[in-house]
Amino acid sequence: SLYIGLLSLVLHLPVAVHGVDHYSRTDFPADFVFGSGTSAYQYEGAASEDGRSPSIWDTFAHSGHTNGANGDIACDGYHKYKDDIQLMVETNLEAFRISISWSRLIPNGRGPINQKGLHYYNNLIDELISCGIQPHVTLNHIDLPQALEDEYGGWLSRKILKDFTAYADVCFREFGDRVLYWTTVNEANIFAVGGYDQGIIAPGRCSDRTRCSWGNSSNETYIAGHNILLAHAAVVRLYRAKYQAIQKGYVGFNIYTMWFEPYTNATEDLIATQRANDFFIGWLIDPLIFGDYPETVKKNAQTRIPTFTKLESEQIKGSVDFIGVNHYTTAFVKDNPSILEADNGGFSADLAAQIIEQQGDTPQDQYPVLPSGLYGVLEYLKQVYGNQPVYIHENGQMTRRNGTLNDTPRVEYFQAYIGSLLDALRNGSNVKGYFAWTFLDGLELLDGYGTSFGFYYVDLDDKDLRRYQKLSARWYASFLKGKTRSN
Ligand code: NOJ
Repeated sequence: SLYIGLLSLVLHLPVAVHGVDHYSRTDFPADFVFGSGTSAYQYEGAASEDGRSPSIWDTFAHSGHTNGANGDIACDGYHKYKDDIQLMVETNLEAFRISISWSRLIPNGRGPINQKGLHYYNNLIDELISCGIQPHVTLNHIDLPQALEDEYGGWLSRKILKDFTAYADVCFREFGDRVLYWTTVNEANIFAVGGYDQGIIAPGRCSDRTRCSWGNSSNETYIAGHNILLAHAAVVRLYRAKYQAIQKGYVGFNIYTMWFEPYTNATEDLIATQRANDFFIGWLIDPLIFGDYPETVKKNAQTRIPTFTKLESEQIKGSVDFIGVNHYTTAFVKDNPSILEADNGGFSADLAAQIIEQQGDTPQDQYPVLPSGLYGVLEYLKQVYGNQPVYIHENGQMTRRNGTLNDTPRVEYFQAYIGSLLDALRNGSNVKGYFAWTFLDGLELLDGYGTSFGFYYVDLDDKDLRRYQKLSARWYASFLKGKTRSN
């Protein structure tokens, strides 16, 4: 299980199903978009080709993490994107979510543009558009140029604001005539927690003293989160001042969240469940909508969490055109004040609760099918944040990578979750699009090439990395048949 899965204990409980059972693409508005996605490091390969420099994810993967695997080759999308886009056409995708490798476009993070990198992204974007597939672009997906990490500690320093804004400026200038949907940072909350508290994703720093003997200072998670917000807001200011009037696009932010349910009906568990929402969703979304961190987060994180100046708070508030959400599963929340007392500091400690992923009868390495979680998250966002536009940027089923092409668990998962999405939409959610994770079996975040989420299997033993269609691709293609895209 993922992320805070390390904290969790798997329970066997009945599975609750929710959502519309029978539906078709035409039940969704014509301007709703259905797509799929990848991220640069998980897909492109060509890690040291044509001037690309290493990112923190290269470094992390090459130091024995990610199940011993790395993205040196991945799906070799750098060379194979045209063929892959043909597969996207066959899958009837309306939109596709990519990320740009900063290290490929501006090696070492700052300075001149790498013309070959520029050429690659121009071609990729043009090819998508010429095939009628709308590009949605993320600027940072866990892959900060290593040089900036080495020079000033990357996201731990405010120096990142200037470099990230300059990089975004290049992207808007070069691609913004064709790209309308931008996301600054992918899973900013998981990046900050996984990368600075738990040490399980790049840059692999660790403030949880129960897990790391060498623990660095316990406020790094919050500092990274704070600088990400400031950098995001700076990029949005730039877009609005310089590009918005001409390009007419949108800039959003992305977080990961589970749906949380109280472990029991006891008041402490109900309060802890709200606290989980405050830590996972509110921590980084409240500032974007209301201008400050949630009270509970401030209270438990004490002086470890930075404060916004009045000006910063004003700048951050409202600096989002949509909220991007990655959602996979549902968890129970059990109050646990003793973690707070036992380990003063660290995100998990401040959360003061145990997160228990629900499992039901599902085999290990698969998520239980709990579509009501997607409905719950969309309802929560609607109620708490005044119905801001939302994109489901990721949702999908994990299986063992070398399993069958007959991936019925993935089909069942999508069928159920998309039904729940429709339910939420009918109940007034301002959800605008849905991106199934992921198109091809690429490098998986924690498990390398052990588990996968793709519509297509990639044969890593074949020199051409041949792609094989899974049943889920055919299911999605037939669901999307007769698309009526109006963008
Ligand atoms: C989170 C990340 O954004 C993506 O990189 C990862 O592969 C999926 N979710 C699945 O773990």
